[in-house]
Amino acid sequence: MEFSERLLERLKVAYTVGVLTGAGISAASGVPTFRGKDGLWNKYRPEELANFEAFQTNPKLVWEWYDWRRKLIQQVKPNLAHYALVDMERIFPEFAIITQNVDNLHQRAGNQHVIELHGNILRSKCSRCGKPYLQEFDVKQGIPTCPDCGGLIRPDVVWFGETLPENNLHQAQEFAMASEVFFAIGTSAVVEPAASLPYIAKGNGAYVVEINPEDTPLSDAADEHLKGPADQILPALVIELEKIR
Ligand code: OAD
Repeated sequence: MEFSERLLERLKVAYTVGVLTGAGISAASGVPTFRGKDGLWNKYRPEELANFEAFQTNPKLVWEWYDWRRKLIQQVKPNLAHYALVDMERIFPEFAIITQNVDNLHQRAGNQHVIELHGNILRSKCSRCGKPYLQEFDVKQGIPTCPDCGGLIRPDVVWFGETLPENNLHQAQEFAMASEVFFAIGTSAVVEPAASLPYIAKGNGAYVVEINPEDTPLSDAADEHLKGPADQILPALVIELEKIR
């Protein structure tokens, strides 16, 4: 696989490299994406499952859906794209993954600096007092409630209409501003505020590289669009990086 001289020149000297990831990076692990041909949102409507009103109206339905996804995620493994990002963290002095994924696969692969924008499906929290819960619940036995305040316990993910964890978003924006090269990998680049991060990076001088087999709203604005699956492109890029760094 060939990479442009411009990209390799940037990567040869880059100190700070940021990466925004979306569901597409986990596609090769067998985690379904949200949009696209086999996307989850073709089968389910986000407003039915991924918002707080839905949870209040029908917590059982919402929990069963998350329980299904949680079990699926526990059975899959990180793929070559995740592992290539572990190599990149070793290569660049300042490196962060900013992820919209809730699947924990970057952490399982071994990346240290992961900023979660949309929470983590393996964690839960009280919907009333916010107390975090790390244990699993058997939701078939009923909706778990918080022993402290009696509120319903919910998955610790960000739903439509909810704000992102403020601290994480701030860190992500700061990192995008500082990045010399910024990758947007496996994201349809339509859900804000994550979708703005590549533009923030570009506005502050970063060379923006999209990795996605499809075109997205970002494609024209990116300096390069590497069109293909991340699990093929990223390992090939790491081979080039090992030669030039
Ligand atoms: P999407 O499902 O919207 O987009 C997945 C992207 O991955 C698409 O653009 C695909 O073309 C691309 N893709 C598929 N296979 C790929 C591969 N092997 N390598 C690289 N790219 C591939 O997922 P996100 O952009 O992550 O939020 O969605 C953003 C947010 O919308 C999610 O975090 C979730 C969702 O609704 C919430 O639930 C709040």
